[in-house]
Amino acid sequence: MTSQNTSLAKDNIKIVLLEGIHPSAEEVFRSDGYSSIFTAAKSLPQDELREVLADANFLGIRSRTQVTPELLSFAPKLSAIGCFCIGTNQVDLEAATKQGIPVFNAPFANTRSVAELVLAEIILLLRGVPAKNAAAHRGEWLKSATNSFETRGKILGIVGYGHIGTQIGILAENLGMKVQFFDINKKLSLGNARTASSFHKLLETSDVVTFHVPETEQTQNMMNQQAFDHLKKGAILVNASRGTVVDIDALANGLETGKVNGAALDVFPIEPKSNQEEFVSKLCQFDNTILTPHIGGSTKEAQVNIGIEVSEKLVKYSNNGSTLSSVNFPEVGLPELMGKHRICHIHHNEPGILAKINDMFSESGANIVSQYLQTNANVGYVVTDIDQTSSEDAFEKMKLIKGTIKSRILY
Ligand code: NAI
Repeated sequence: MTSQNTSLAKDNIKIVLLEGIHPSAEEVFRSDGYSSIFTAAKSLPQDELREVLADANFLGIRSRTQVTPELLSFAPKLSAIGCFCIGTNQVDLEAATKQGIPVFNAPFANTRSVAELVLAEIILLLRGVPAKNAAAHRGEWLKSATNSFETRGKILGIVGYGHIGTQIGILAENLGMKVQFFDINKKLSLGNARTASSFHKLLETSDVVTFHVPETEQTQNMMNQQAFDHLKKGAILVNASRGTVVDIDALANGLETGKVNGAALDVFPIEPKSNQEEFVSKLCQFDNTILTPHIGGSTKEAQVNIGIEVSEKLVKYSNNGSTLSSVNFPEVGLPELMGKHRICHIHHNEPGILAKINDMFSESGANIVSQYLQTNANVGYVVTDIDQTSSEDAFEKMKLIKGTIKSRILY
């Protein structure tokens, strides 16, 4: 059992921000009164990482730092981890959960950036700009209005009507496009968007088709040869979701035959691991494609937003125990502490622990003002607000309850 002991003064809470996390994150911590902040522009080598984590309470990383069970064993005081990015694969979530460490990320901070790129690509592809631009770079002059269209009045088919899909729908309607969408889940249509009766129907009736689905078994090669057969002749295809969604051979075939009039891809089944690696794709031969290196969400604004979003989640967890939107932890949204003491108790999810906690409270004579409990497969998180007079005694007893992983008291 590890315990966080009593509520630490904010200047004694050590925050480690690695990998050049945007300064907006540090600003959030500082403006809330946290001053012990270690920052590094890059990921750290293992020995330095262990050293810096030995007394760290909060860790912020991007995608390079691998948080393994072994690394966690060198971070006994760690309360929470912030992934200042979208993915959380770099953290062993099971190990973090078992050690009572919630992990936070910023899944939607770059939604607008992706939507803007996709919209720009749709405009350029409808005008045939990529092919004309490529030709001009070779000294060719392709002045022609053939196959050059306005967006106004064209039908945009959105596959996956989630955060990004809906944003694009709204922006596209402002340009005068007619929007339809297909989603496996029932979704509220925004603006004038209509639901397509099936994926194939959407393909048959859209001038532009754009994918915004997650990577799942169902979306793997979703846009395969059979799907291309359903596509309206001369349509434009955009994929800024996941590389496995579109079958590249089938797309190349569509571009060759003219079934597809142009395509924009920001994601690929195989992507170079670094800027030093060569990008290889069958699509490089086609002038009427826009191929971008997975930069849909990569803007200054998205970085700023990610810095703010994740650090605010960490500050909130530190200040009042709230775990809303954690990727691995039972989610508890908590009100501000109003003159009470709050005991946050993280335990293995075993039967009977809540009963033991409440027995202990009644033995301590503690007056419970409110209590919040959530569990997931591995852990339970119970937060109890009690009167100040009995809090220390109850907290000490609570730490001894069998099955306790971590506990802390907030004033
Ligand atoms: P989201 O989770 O908000 O929306 C995804 C939508 O797809 C949901 O409405 C879901 O119901 C729907 N869906 C799932 N399976 C489906 C299926 N088989 N058929 C139709 N609809 C299906 O996700 P969000 O934030 O909109 O992201 C969409 C995609 O964009 C994700 O794959 C994400 O990884 C990717 N992305 C790419 C970026 C880039 O840099 N290119 C940046 C950010 C996200």
